[in-house]
Amino acid sequence: MYQNSRPIGVIDSGVGGLTVVRQIQRLLPGEDIIFFGDSANCPYGNRSADEIYALALRMLRYLESQEVKCVAIACNTISSLIDRLRGECPFSLVSIIESGADYIVREKLPSVGLIGTEFTVSTGAYEARIHAGNPDCLVVSKGSADLASLIDRGDFNRSVIDEEITAQIDVILSRAPVKDLILACTHFPIVAENFHRCFPELRLIDPAEQQAIAVKNLLVYRNLTNPQTRGKLTICTSGGLEVYSAVAQMLNLYGPEDSRVVSLEQ
Ligand code: DGL
Repeated sequence: MYQNSRPIGVIDSGVGGLTVVRQIQRLLPGEDIIFFGDSANCPYGNRSADEIYALALRMLRYLESQEVKCVAIACNTISSLIDRLRGECPFSLVSIIESGADYIVREKLPSVGLIGTEFTVSTGAYEARIHAGNPDCLVVSKGSADLASLIDRGDFNRSVIDEEITAQIDVILSRAPVKDLILACTHFPIVAENFHRCFPELRLIDPAEQQAIAVKNLLVYRNLTNPQTRGKLTICTSGGLEVYSAVAQMLNLYGPEDSRVVSLEQ
C-alpha cells in the first residue's frame, strides 16, 4: 500500500479513545483511521502491568496486520507502559501521557489536578514526565476505579456519574486548591459536561487535543500525510458495537463507515 494512504491506528481499552479520534478527525480530516477498543477486557485500569501489556500488544498486532502507518495510544493506562511497547512495534507510537504532560510543562502551571484510572495514577507516569520539564509543578492525582467502566457500559446515569466525580475531585481539592484538572483517562471527556456541572470553577484539560497535534507533527515530519479530502473511520471492538455508535454520535464524529466486532486470540 502507498505509504501515505495507510491508516492511522488508534487504541484504547474501550470507547474512550473515540475522544482522541474526534481530535484527529478535526486536525487531519484526510486520514483513514482504524480504531480498536477492547471493551471485552475493559476496564484496564484495575489490572496488573503485565495484563495490560499483553492485552495492548494484541491490539497492536491486529493493527500491524491492517498496515497502519503509526498508532495513537489513546489510553492513558496503556501509555503508562509506552517504553515496553515501543520495542515491540515496527511503527511509531504516540503516547497520550507524553502529549498531555508536555503541554502542562509548556503552560508553566504551578499546580494541576489529575484524575485517571487507579493504574495510571499508581505508575506516577504523568508526574515523572511533568517534573522532568518543571520540577516545581505540584501534581495532585487521584484514581477512580469505577468511572471508566460506567462510561464503557454506556451507563450515563447522571447522578451515579456525578457522585463518582464529586467524590474523587473533592479528595484532590482537599489536598490543594488546583484550578486546572487533567482528564487523564480518555473515557472522561465523554462526560465533560458532568465535570463542568459539578465543578464549574475548574478548567478541564483534555490531553487528546495535544495527542492529535503530536500525530500531525509526526506525519508532517515524515511526509506521510494523506492528501485525500475526507478519510474513512473504521471502528473495531472486542465487545458490543452499540455503545460505540452512541458515543460516536455524542462526539459528532464523521462516520464510522465500517464497524466490526473482532475477537483477538491470546
Ligand atoms: N481509557 C483508558 C485510559 O485512558 C482507561 C479505561 C480503563 O480503565 O480501561 O486510561
